[in-house]
Amino acid sequence: MIVCLCKAVGSKTIERLIDEGARSVACIGKACGAGTDCGGCRGTLDDMLDEAAERGRSRRLALYVDATAAAE
Ligand code: FES
Repeated sequence: MIVCLCKAVGSKTIERLIDEGARSVACIGKACGAGTDCGGCRGTLDDMLDEAAERGRSRRLALYVDATAAAE
């Protein structure tokens, strides 16, 4: 699915950049140009960053719970 129409950047590219460490809309823009023209996609980029951060928090919490349970 295309996320940034101006730069023709798809969701898979954005997800890959986030997986590789992009943590801001500006960082994504620097890497692939998304969000650097009309700005219409910046909200979606922000949502994708938030969702990835939430997934990361959930993953860390699950690892913590597993480690805590194993220590008991
Ligand atoms: S749609 Fe992404 S900058 Fe215009």
